Amino acid sequence: MLRLAIFASGRGSNLRAIYNAIRSGDLKGVELTLVLSNNSSAEALVFAKEHQIEALHLSPLVSGEEFYEGELLKALQDREIDLIALAGYMRKIPDSLIAAYRHRIVNIHPALLPEFGGSGMYGSRVHEAVLAAGKPVTGASVHYVEGEYDSGEIILQSECPVHPGDTPQTLGKRVLQCEHELYPKALQIVINKLLSSKI
Ligand code: GRF
Repeated sequence: MLRLAIFASGRGSNLRAIYNAIRSGDLKGVELTLVLSNNSSAEALVFAKEHQIEALHLSPLVSGEEFYEGELLKALQDREIDLIALAGYMRKIPDSLIAAYRHRIVNIHPALLPEFGGSGMYGSRVHEAVLAAGKPVTGASVHYVEGEYDSGEIILQSECPVHPGDTPQTLGKRVLQCEHELYPKALQIVINKLLSSKI
């Protein structure tokens, strides 16, 4: 059984989708061990506490950038975390963590990477850009985390239609539904790979 940590800064709907997939048995070989946030008032932390999952708030604003990096890595190693899923985590992952968890940190992005990704492309900005480009189709991508934003190898994507008259909000809502189906499937691919390499 692999030990999963989810990093989330906000509402945590992808966290809930992953939690539900584990509970229902759709996502196998993993237990949700830790929810970590840089935002002490994140709904994701509330959800974790309500569901008896350890909820941890760590922020460089509290402990200072340098101490925070070490603190983060230690928190994961102390809990023997095998895999990290970013789900709306609004901080850059330190290089030290990427090096320690190479190919064990994944992220979800609300567009079909490599388009509409990179620094500054988050939240409704992504959907605004998709609409401005007149794309008939958008989607979601799960990828490994590397040093540059949204740059790591893509694990799985799913497409989602853009409808005439869509606003960033209506499109974002539709893409979020795609994300909730995609993330557990993509995690299963990563988990299966890690489990087979452990044997
Ligand atoms: C999602 O749209 C995800 O693609 C992006 O941040 C958002 C997080 O939403 N990285 P939630 O907190 O999981 O509801």
